[in-house]
Amino acid sequence: MNWQQLDWAALDRLRAGFLHGVGDDGPYWHSESDLASYDLTYGERIGWKWDAVLRELASRGWRPPASARTVLDWGCGSGVAGRRVLEAFGVEDIDLLQLWDHSPLARSFAAQRAREAFPSLAVSEFADTGQPIGLLIVSHVINELSPDAVQTLLALVARADAVLWVEPGTHAVSRQLIAVREALTDAFNLIAPCPHPGMCGLLTAGNERHWCHFFAPPPAGVQNDSDWVRFGQRAGIDLRSLPYSYLVLENKRLATSAAGPTSSPLPPTGASRILGRAEHFKGFARVLSCDAPGVVEELELQKRADADLFKQLKKDANHPLYRWERADRRIVGATRV
Ligand SMILES: C[S@@+](CC[C@H](N)C(=O)[O-])C[C@H]1O[C@@H](n2cnc3c(N)ncnc32)[C@H](O)[C@@H]1O
Repeated sequence: MNWQQLDWAALDRLRAGFLHGVGDDGPYWHSESDLASYDLTYGERIGWKWDAVLRELASRGWRPPASARTVLDWGCGSGVAGRRVLEAFGVEDIDLLQLWDHSPLARSFAAQRAREAFPSLAVSEFADTGQPIGLLIVSHVINELSPDAVQTLLALVARADAVLWVEPGTHAVSRQLIAVREALTDAFNLIAPCPHPGMCGLLTAGNERHWCHFFAPPPAGVQNDSDWVRFGQRAGIDLRSLPYSYLVLENKRLATSAAGPTSSPLPPTGASRILGRAEHFKGFARVLSCDAPGVVEELELQKRADADLFKQLKKDANHPLYRWERADRRIVGATRV
């Protein structure tokens, strides 16, 4: 599939479903060409969000636990998420990639693409025989699931060693993911994006209008690429803006399992993370800072207090963890942690 062969009618139909809800009509993939057209466009864009999450994990020194020798991409669609994860971490320590989607067409398309990308890797469709689940990948699925399907997925999550979950960065989906987070904090360590394991501060009164989301940069040159520009116009998508929400979790049972304690880097105490984008005004910036259990608050940074940080917050939409130096609600300095 290339840009000339794109099935625009299929993309228009898929877009209508993504925008207005896919309903209860069962799988919406009608042909391999649907999946190939999606993979080149919507799927690739989702891949850019995965790239941002995987860069964040690399910068924190996180890798999947050694016990996670199988990878399950659940709700795989064309399989872009599983491929991105395996490209990032390599397949040397992986015995099997499993793919699940309620669409048989999607399962077989994703398996075919994975075999092409990783010829030495065993790839199969997932059949739940109750075996342990190593690394579970979930991408852009939650708002298509019935309550029963969410429960099925959460039962798989409970058995996983680690979970990488990326979703769109909308208010509604982020709030769904926060509910998942709250349900899992007893059993899982939160690796990212949360800077602390306590109650999500977005659940406190007064924070209802906010949500946990981030922005992934598109690859350089996309905005000048005529194929992407045409796709963006037709799909009504701003190519510069890739909002996403995500969760990276590691099962606490690993700490006491025979495989030994997890060495994964938990966020350091006192770390904060900026949610969404910093807003810049003349001489100051405002950020929504996730700081501590139950605390998400707006803080201000005067440009004169830390001009480098002021510039950095403008330049880089993908914010790392910081430890703030504060004077009340003002940031007066920061260290990256
Ligand atoms: C928007 S696509 C995302 C596909 C892929 N994960 C990605 O990130 O590109 C959502 C996928 O979830 C699948 N899906 C929806 N409901 C499902 C269910 N109940 N069980 C399994 N897969 C489901 C759809 O068939 C579709 O492939």
